[in-house]
Formats: sequence, structure tokens, C-alpha cells
Amino acid sequence: TKRQKQRKVLLMGKSGAGKSSMRSIVFSNYVAKDVRRLGATIDVEHSNIKFMGNLMLNLWDCGGQDGFVENYLTHQRAHVFSSVAVLIFVFDIESREFAADVISYSSIIRALAEHSPSAAVFVLIHKMDLVQARLRQQLFDERTEYIRSASESFAPTVDFFATSIWDQSLYKAWTQIIYFLIPNARSIEGLLRELAEVVEARELILYERTTCLMVTHVTRDVEAENPFSDRFERISSILKTHKQSMAKHTGIPAGSANFAEMQIKTGRFMFFITRLTENTNLAAAIPPSEQIFNAARIN
Ligand code: GTP
Ligand code: MG
Repeated sequence: TKRQKQRKVLLMGKSGAGKSSMRSIVFSNYVAKDVRRLGATIDVEHSNIKFMGNLMLNLWDCGGQDGFVENYLTHQRAHVFSSVAVLIFVFDIESREFAADVISYSSIIRALAEHSPSAAVFVLIHKMDLVQARLRQQLFDERTEYIRSASESFAPTVDFFATSIWDQSLYKAWTQIIYFLIPNARSIEGLLRELAEVVEARELILYERTTCLMVTHVTRDVEAENPFSDRFERISSILKTHKQSMAKHTGIPAGSANFAEMQIKTGRFMFFITRLTENTNLAAAIPPSEQIFNAARIN
């Protein structure tokens, strides 16, 4: 029998920061323009997400209105902050009260240090699309430095991401978070490397089927010089969009809509995506040879 690993993930940050929006896009197949319909979260919304067969994410989407946060920090303190594997804290880059947001973050960090000192903390500086492109990096650096200094015992390890629901940055951040949570990521990576060698693939990318997030990838040979370093998230977002449009046009719920296979062949490379296991899709970049391509597909 498969032992299920339960992982508690807290999603926190002030009201309107965009927590439920990102949750709906990553886990419930919403598209970015749908999230305007979401209302403010009352108290905590729990969801259990089955991921890669034996991993169960217990996601706590914690409503960020002041009254609720006060309650998490007092009456519900042990209940909310114990057994946490990951805290994801979302800052709204447009917030007019950044200093106050950081004070609230600090209180949460202290509660976490008390009840789950070994948790990992990921901070998302969110809604970056609202900042002019040329100002983004500097603003991000300033904010992260300030937030890190308020992170107490988590300061050396806290990880920061600039995100927006309007581009692939959201997938990039969540891919890192998920990678951290997958219990056997290393051994999956080892097996994928062996498979890549056997089928002579330049690159294999493993995607979780429900979320379309990348689990891991193996890159070999000339592919190591591929200048498109964001290709993994781009494929995630293409897979996701495809899923949504399939659901729209066929009536199959987006949760179960999936394609059989996609192929691209050019003179420089060949590529296919297909289902690998119950929970994963595999993208393979192959040298431009029909023989290698066909053998790889069959294998
Ligand atoms: P509470 O449930 O009250 O704690 O708020 P929340 O953090 O769940 O906020 P929610 O996801 O409901 O989002 C609030 C608003 O932010 C929505 O109207 C979204 O459209 C908007 N929003 C979310 N993400 C982004 C983003 O990346 N960019 C922009 N421009 N707007 C966003
Ligand atoms: Mg919410």
C-alpha cells in the first residue's frame, strides 16, 4: 500500500494580496481574468490536493482581513501554526502600507518559529505586472532586503519570488515550492536521467498532470545551451491553457481534460509531450532524427 505524505501549507498575506487568485489558477484551473469574481476569503479555506500519487497538500488559504489575522495569532495560534511544512506569504507590491504589512508578517513569522521552527518560508512579491518593467528589479531587491531583515530565525533561508497572475512567473514560483514538497524528487530525477540516456533525449521534462507544474527536468548535450531559460514555465502555461480550452469546447471538466499527445518536428529538433504515468506528462526534446524520435516514443 502507498503511504500518503501529508504536507500542511499556509497561504498568508493581507486581504486583497492575491492569495485565492493564485490558488484558483494553479490548482483549480481558473484563468487569470476569472479571478476578479472571487470574494474575500472568510477565515480559512481548506483544500486537499492530491499531487503525484502519494503526496497530499493540505492548503490553508487564510483570509487576510485584520480580524482574521488577529484570531490566527491568538485563539487559533497553535491550531494554525503547528505542523506547517511551508508558509507562503504574499505581499501586494501596490500596497500603500508596506511597513504595516511587514509588521504583520513579523508577527506571523514569530508564531511560525514557535510552533513549526523547521518550516520553509517562501515570500511572493505579487502583482508585479502593475510596476513598470524598468523599475521591477530594483523595487524587488529593496523589498526583499527589508522583508528578510524582518524574518528572524528564517532570515537565512527565506526564498523570494516576483510573481504575477498575468505571466509565467506564478508557475516559476509554485514549481520551486512544489519541488521542495515532493518527498522523492531526487530519486525521480535519477530515474528520469536514466530514461533520458536510454532514449537519447536532449531534454526530458516531467509535468504533474493536474496542475501542469514541472516536477523536475533533465537536460543533456546541446540542450544545455538552450537560451530559453523560461521554457519550463512556458510549457506549463501552454499545457494549462490547452486544458482550459479543451474543457470549454468539449464540456469535459478542466480537471480531467487531457490530450493524448502533441508533436513538433523541425530540422533542428523534434519534440513530443505525452502521458507518462497516472499523474504525470512527459515532454521530450529529441535530436532531429525520425528513428530516434520513434524509438523514444515507443520506449
Ligand atoms: P483575502 O481573501 O481577503 O485575504 O484576499 P486574497 O489575498 O485572497 O485576494 P484575492 O485573490 O481575492 O485577490 C484580490 C484581487 O487582486 C483580485 O481582484 C485579483 O484580480 C487581483 N489580483 C490577484 N493577482 C494579481 C496579479 O498578479 N496582478 C494584478 N494586477 N492583480 C491581481
Ligand atoms: Mg482570499
